[in-house]
Amino acid sequence: MSISIDNARNIAALHSGTVSYVLEAVDGKYLVHRYFGRALRAYHGCGAPAYYKRAYSTEHPCSIPNVSFDDFPFEYPARGRGDFRIPALEAEQSGGVRVVEPLFRSWRAIEGKPALPGLPATFAGDTPAQTLEVVCEDPQAGLRVLLYYSVFEGLDIVARHQRLENIGGQTLTLHNVQSASLELSARPLELLSLYGTHAKEANRSRSPLHHGIQRIESVRGGSSPQHQPFFALLSPGATETAGEVYAMHLVYSGNFLAQAEADAFGNVRAQIGIHPEGFQWELKPGESFTTPEAILNYSAEGLNGMSRQFHRLYREHLMPQRFAGLERPVLLNSWEAMYYEVSLEKIEAQAELAKRAGMELFVLDDGWFRADNSSRTSMGDWQCNETKLPGGIRRAAELVHAKGLKFGLWFEPEAICKSSALYRMHPDWALHIPGYEPVEGRHEYLLDLTRPEVRDYLTGMLGSYLQGGMVDYIKWDMNRPLTDVCSTAFGQTRQAGIAHRYLLGLYEILERVTTAFPNVLIEGCSSGGARFDPGMLYYAAQNWASDNTDAFDRLTIQDGFSLLYPPMAIGAHVSITPNHQTGRSTSLDARYQAARLFDLGYELDLTQCSEGEREEIARQVAEHKPERAWMQTGIFSRHEVPNGNYVMWSIARPDRSECLALIFQKAYDPLCCHGNFKLLNLDADADYRETGSGQVYGGDELLQIGLTVPLVKEDLHPFVFRFQRI
Ligand code: GLA
Repeated sequence: MSISIDNARNIAALHSGTVSYVLEAVDGKYLVHRYFGRALRAYHGCGAPAYYKRAYSTEHPCSIPNVSFDDFPFEYPARGRGDFRIPALEAEQSGGVRVVEPLFRSWRAIEGKPALPGLPATFAGDTPAQTLEVVCEDPQAGLRVLLYYSVFEGLDIVARHQRLENIGGQTLTLHNVQSASLELSARPLELLSLYGTHAKEANRSRSPLHHGIQRIESVRGGSSPQHQPFFALLSPGATETAGEVYAMHLVYSGNFLAQAEADAFGNVRAQIGIHPEGFQWELKPGESFTTPEAILNYSAEGLNGMSRQFHRLYREHLMPQRFAGLERPVLLNSWEAMYYEVSLEKIEAQAELAKRAGMELFVLDDGWFRADNSSRTSMGDWQCNETKLPGGIRRAAELVHAKGLKFGLWFEPEAICKSSALYRMHPDWALHIPGYEPVEGRHEYLLDLTRPEVRDYLTGMLGSYLQGGMVDYIKWDMNRPLTDVCSTAFGQTRQAGIAHRYLLGLYEILERVTTAFPNVLIEGCSSGGARFDPGMLYYAAQNWASDNTDAFDRLTIQDGFSLLYPPMAIGAHVSITPNHQTGRSTSLDARYQAARLFDLGYELDLTQCSEGEREEIARQVAEHKPERAWMQTGIFSRHEVPNGNYVMWSIARPDRSECLALIFQKAYDPLCCHGNFKLLNLDADADYRETGSGQVYGGDELLQIGLTVPLVKEDLHPFVFRFQRI
C-alpha cells in the first residue's frame, strides 16, 4: 500500500492490494482522472487521455491544444462551465448563479483514515491505511472542496468522500454533492444492480450499458428495497469467477442516486451519492458539509472477487468490531409464532423449547406494547401492555433469562401513531407539512429526528430498557418510507435538507445507544431488507434480509445480498411450512440448509412442531454452533451452475483446509439435470475427503471437473458436501 505524489509531473497515485488509482492535475490546475483498476507497480504516465477537438462543444482552457470539455475526464465534475455530462457537484452562489469551478490547489498523503463527522464510515482499526487529500478551490465562489481517497493494506478498495467548506463571505447553496465520480475510458460494459420490493429484495438486474444515462435511485427517504445503493460495471460476460468488475457502494441509509453515463464516444462516467432530488444544503460562511462515503471496489476475478473485498471490508472495517469476531447467537424470533398475540405463557413455553434445542437468544418481536393485536395503535408509546404481559418486559426478560437464554426486544423507534399518547402530547414531533395531514404508512407517521428533543426522548426510552442488562439485543425496525419531509424546527430555506438531517439524527441516536450499550447487539430491519445498507451495518452488525422466509425465495434474496454483505451480516431464519408468505412447502432440512451459512435463526412455533421436528432442529443447532466461528470469517462464494435450476454456495476456510458446499436443486425438472458443479477455494495439489461419503478426491479434480448430483423428485432439494484436506 502506498501513495505517491509527483509534483513535477502533477501526478498522484494510490496503490493498495491489487488496485491502483491515479490522478493528474493538468497544468497544476485541472484535476482529472487517469486510472482505476488492477494494481500497477508504479505509474509512469501510460494512457494519457487522447484529447480531441469536438465540434459543437466548448474549449477547455488548459494548455493542451484542442481539448473539448466534452471528453475531458474530470475527477470531480462541476456543473456550469461547459461539461454537460452528469455532474458530481452543483452549487449556487448568492444571486442565483449556479456555477462553481473548484480548481486544484494541493494534495498530501495522510496516515490513517479520517472519520466522517456524524456519518457512518469505514475505519482502519489496526490495519495500516493511508489517505490522499486533494484540495480544490473556487476563490470567486468562496468554496473549498476537499476530496479524500483512503486505501487499506491488503484490500482492493478505495474509500471516497468529500468535504465542502465555505471559505468566502456569501452563503452558498449545495444542490448536488456526489460521493464519488469515476471516469472509465471507452469500452463495452454491463451494468449490474440489485432491485426488488418488500419480501422480494436483492434481485440481480444486468444489462449492457447503453449510450445515455442509466440510473438507479431511492427517493423514499431510506435506501429502500427497490434498489440497493450499489452498482457495478462489468466487462461483458463477467462471471462469478472471471472478468473485471468496477463496483460502487454507498455508506448511507437515505435517498441515493447511482448512475452511469456512456457518451457518444463510449467514455463512461459513473457516480454515486446523495440523491439531488429533495436535497439542498445551505452553506453559510465558515460552515462545511461532508458527503457520505462511497466504496470503490475493483476486481479482476469476477463477482466473487468483488464480494470477497466487500465482505472483508465490512467485517473488519465497518460493522461494530465488538461483534465482528463474536459467534452470533442462534435465535428464536417470536413473530411468525405469535404475531401480535404475545403472552408470558407463550414466551416461557417457546423459550423452554428453544433452550432444549440449544438456541441462545429469544427475540420478542412486535406486539408487546400494542393496545390491540394489530399494527393500528400504540406506535410511539413504548410501554409494555401489561394485560398481555403482566409484570411487563422485566418479567418477560426474567422468564427468558431464567432459561439461560439472552433476551431480545423489537422496537420501531422512528414511528409514531396518530392515536398515540406521544402524538397527543407532541404533535410537532411528527414530520409534517403545516396545513397538510401527514400521509400514513402502516398506520404510522414518522418522528422528526432532526429535533434534538426527539433524539433525546428516543435515546432515553431505549436506554430505560437496556439499562441493567434487562434487554440484551434490539431488533430495530422501520416500516415505511419518508413522506411529509418537513420539520417545523427549521426555517423555510432549510427544508430541502430535512431528509438528510433525518438520517444524521438517526445516526446520532444509534451512535449514542451503541456507545452507551456496546454489548447490545442490534439487528437492523426495515420491513425486512428495506434499509439493509452499509450505513446501518456500521451500527447494526446483522440485518433481517427479508420478511419472506420461504427458503426457495431466500436463495435469490440471500444470493443477491451476498454480493455485498458478509454472510454473518445477513439474517436467515428457518420458519414453518407451508410458508406464511408464499404457501410453499419445503423440507425442514432444505430450510435449514438455505439458512445455515448466514446468521442462523428460527422463526416458528416450537410448541406446534412434532417431537421429531424438534429433535431435528436440535441436531441442526448442534451442528451449526461449533462450525459458525470459522464459517463467519470463511470465504463465501457463489458458484457458476450448469443451469438456472440450481444455486450453489460454499464457505471455505481461508487456509483451504476445509470447505462446506451446498447445491440446491430448485425443482424436479428432468430437462435441467445435467452438468458439473465445480468447487472453489481448494488447494489443487492436495487431496480432500468428502466427509459424508468418505470418498477422496484431488483438489484439482474438484476445481476443474467438479461434482455431479442426481435428480431428486423433490422441489428445493439440498445437496451438502464437506471437504477436508487430508
Ligand atoms: C416488520 C419486520 C418483521 C416483523 C414485523 C412486526 O415487517 O420486518 O420481521 O418484525 O415488522 O410488525
